[in-house]
Amino acid sequence: MTIKTAKLGVISSGRGENLRYILRAEREGWLPGKVAVVLADQPDAGALRIAEEFSVCHEFVDPAGLTRLEYDRQLIDRLEKAGVDLVILTGYMRILSPDFVRHYKDRILNIHPALLPSFRGLDAFSQALEWGVKWTGTTVHVVDEDVDHGPIVYQRPVPVWEGDDRESLKARIQRAEYKAYPRAIRMFIEGNPRFEGRRIVWQKERLRE
Ligand code: GAR
Repeated sequence: MTIKTAKLGVISSGRGENLRYILRAEREGWLPGKVAVVLADQPDAGALRIAEEFSVCHEFVDPAGLTRLEYDRQLIDRLEKAGVDLVILTGYMRILSPDFVRHYKDRILNIHPALLPSFRGLDAFSQALEWGVKWTGTTVHVVDEDVDHGPIVYQRPVPVWEGDDRESLKARIQRAEYKAYPRAIRMFIEGNPRFEGRRIVWQKERLRE
């Protein structure tokens, strides 16, 4: 699969800090892509404010009264109109319908605050602390029809320190995410990925760390 252009559509439910770092990378000329539209399912999502700050087209898409499929069709409509060819999820807390995943097959990325396949689902920070792992981290992966499950694009490990609580660990992981997501997006656009089962084979020389 080759992505010839790199128009990005970002979907968020939350703060949008990852979006800020993606936009910074874009503005610094470091990201071979452009955020074409930012969509959120929460009217007060920080991501919408950040999009405004960076003068990027943005919209709250209201899920009230819509089924998951109807809602996802609304999203697809906006993404198509913006000419998006790579969808970027940042803290998007709704599960995508199979229709959406098929529509953008192998062209949806998500970031999860753990080293998948460990600690899928909600509150990966507390899960890591409860397990007592010494390392956790962040994963950028391709989205498939299962939650926090698709092929792994990029991972960045983060140590768990004695005395960490949920908030200190979360802050350390999120700092790692701000480096990881732009890097993974760049790798994905430039690396011309081919999928062999769960594995991604890069058809161009993979970017160096
Ligand atoms: C990030 O930490 C991301 O890993 C997490 O939501 C946060 C969004 O932050 N996503 C998940 O937990 C998805 N399973 P942001 O809105 O500031 O970018």
